[in-house]
Amino acid sequence: MIKKAIILAGGNGSRLRPLTDVVCKQLLPVYDKPMLHYPLATLMLLGIREILIISTEKDLPFIQHNLKDGSQIGIKLHYAIQTEPRGLPDAFIIGKEFIGADPICLILGDNILYWGQLNLIWNECLSVQEGAYIVGAHTREPHRFGIIECDKNSNVLSLEEKPIHPRSNIAAIGLYFYDNNVITYAESLSPSKRGELEITDLNNIYLKKSQLKAKFLSRGTTWLDAGTINSLMDASNFFQIIEDRQGLKICCVEEVAYNMGYINSAQLEIIANQFGNNSYGDYLRQRLT
Ligand code: G1P
Repeated sequence: MIKKAIILAGGNGSRLRPLTDVVCKQLLPVYDKPMLHYPLATLMLLGIREILIISTEKDLPFIQHNLKDGSQIGIKLHYAIQTEPRGLPDAFIIGKEFIGADPICLILGDNILYWGQLNLIWNECLSVQEGAYIVGAHTREPHRFGIIECDKNSNVLSLEEKPIHPRSNIAAIGLYFYDNNVITYAESLSPSKRGELEITDLNNIYLKKSQLKAKFLSRGTTWLDAGTINSLMDASNFFQIIEDRQGLKICCVEEVAYNMGYINSAQLEIIANQFGNNSYGDYLRQRLT
């Protein structure tokens, strides 16, 4: 089972300037919590507790200040700097030592998922021994993403990065599961026209070896893209509506830690009290009753 993951929280967030002049994209608020908490909670829900967060030299201290060594929420966080945006596969080169001889999961720091219920597809992805799994979801804007073409049995036929003539409407969402060969394959890549190593080129290595499988989000699961000011607002509104309606938070890392048994009630109480008497602290205290 995959027990380690990398969160890549790099990039310069140029489409979200001037917001990202102040704080990196992954720390911008999505309703009531920083964006980064959503992919972090996703990993925690998948049972992954040893995580390397990669970000820029400028932004990493803010992330570290927020999440510390992770022990307060029962996980172990490591940090590394990406000196310039060299593409997603660079995460495996930077994270070589962290990965060691293990399989690894990669999630992008702006990957926001909302699922009603975790389903069995994840067990298959997490138990990858040889090969890789990518996760796909429907999109209306296929030219903006890595696009997965599949046959009726979900076998991957082709993968293309931001195609002009997309062969499907299924985007690779930025959540990937790899065997340990990923380090060697990442090291063998050359930069694309945009000057970066491409995750699609990496996945195509697995595809050529017939070792790439795709899993698709079920219709009850939502993948949100907060890449523009409007989609950032939409994501906030989406979580506000759901959280207000049901009185339960989504991707609240402290609550996830408690529900998953990573921390006990005494630890949750300490965190809740650190938030003081604000609504987030009140919410955490309510989990204890
Ligand atoms: C990256 C990947 C792309 C994937 C997308 C998901 O795109 O290259 O394949 O679909 O993340 O968000 P980028 O954000 O680097 O343009």
